[in-house]
Amino acid sequence: MNEIVFKEEIAPDTFRYQIHHPKIARKRKAGQFVILRMHEGGERVPLTIVDSDPVAGTVTLIFQAVGHSTRELAQLSVGDNLMDLAGPLGKPTHIENFGTCCVIGGGYGTAPVLPIAAALRDAGNNMIGIIGARSWNLVILEKELRAICGRLEVATDDGSYGHHGFVTDVLKSIIDEGTKIDFVLAVGPSPMMRAVSNLTREYGITTMVSLNPIMVDGTGMCGGCRVEVGGETKFACVDGPEFDGHLVNFDLLMKRQATYKPLEQEAAGRELHCKLYPAD
Ligand code: NAD
Ligand code: FES
Repeated sequence: MNEIVFKEEIAPDTFRYQIHHPKIARKRKAGQFVILRMHEGGERVPLTIVDSDPVAGTVTLIFQAVGHSTRELAQLSVGDNLMDLAGPLGKPTHIENFGTCCVIGGGYGTAPVLPIAAALRDAGNNMIGIIGARSWNLVILEKELRAICGRLEVATDDGSYGHHGFVTDVLKSIIDEGTKIDFVLAVGPSPMMRAVSNLTREYGITTMVSLNPIMVDGTGMCGGCRVEVGGETKFACVDGPEFDGHLVNFDLLMKRQATYKPLEQEAAGRELHCKLYPAD
């Protein structure tokens, strides 16, 4: 159980793992995530389920080795076992035939977009995809999203591949060229999701974003993942992770994410034990 059966580096420090867990592979729906632990006392790491194979009993996860625990995770090999894999967690994405959907992925936030794009396509939507990365070598899942989206645009911050600029520049030009978009789903860094939401608000386009606040237990008990949506407190692990981007208090989300940065940096240099950091 929880054995790593496949490992691939799909971009610098960005890995695709397939983990053997038949129950999660059978039950999971688009938009849901797992929380894994590598060993006793290890940090709980939340990762969106990118795909699953109910026949082989495997779950696909994609992560970037950016902190202490994800770097440790990246050291594992095929044949190694994770201590725990809890899930599927969170609410599945609300899927319906909206008409034309635009899915937007920023950096390794593109990974959670893939299963949602597939589910929206399967519901009969016309699919447009936009993916952005800092540079050409950090663009991920282009081939997979091209197979789902009738139109896929790529943007890089440095102009080394595709459009030179942010995903929001591409979204604006698609809207301004007269394409009617009925629904937008955006996943990536918080400033990106805020910028997408601000843009689509102007055009009255329903927009969902997948939030990634710090998570600990994943059950709605610890309060670590609290966010403010429409003036109400929500817990991303049980009420989300997807919320109406026009109602999310991104300033508070980013303030809370910044609060934990020094602790994360400190943890990157030492053995991290799971603990709930004080809320602000
Ligand atoms: P990044 O900083 O390289 O940004 C990726 C792209 O987002 C950029 O190329 C650009 O097109 C766009 N972008 C960034 N800032 C923008 C702004 N201010 N306005 C408009 N567009 C902007 O991304 P990264 O370093 O690969 O990080 C990925 C992020 O995705 C992380 O913050 C991670 O926490 C988040 N993420 C979220 C989830 C989730 O489920 N919510 C899952 C995985 C990753
Ligand atoms: Fe603890 Fe959501 S992770 S309440």
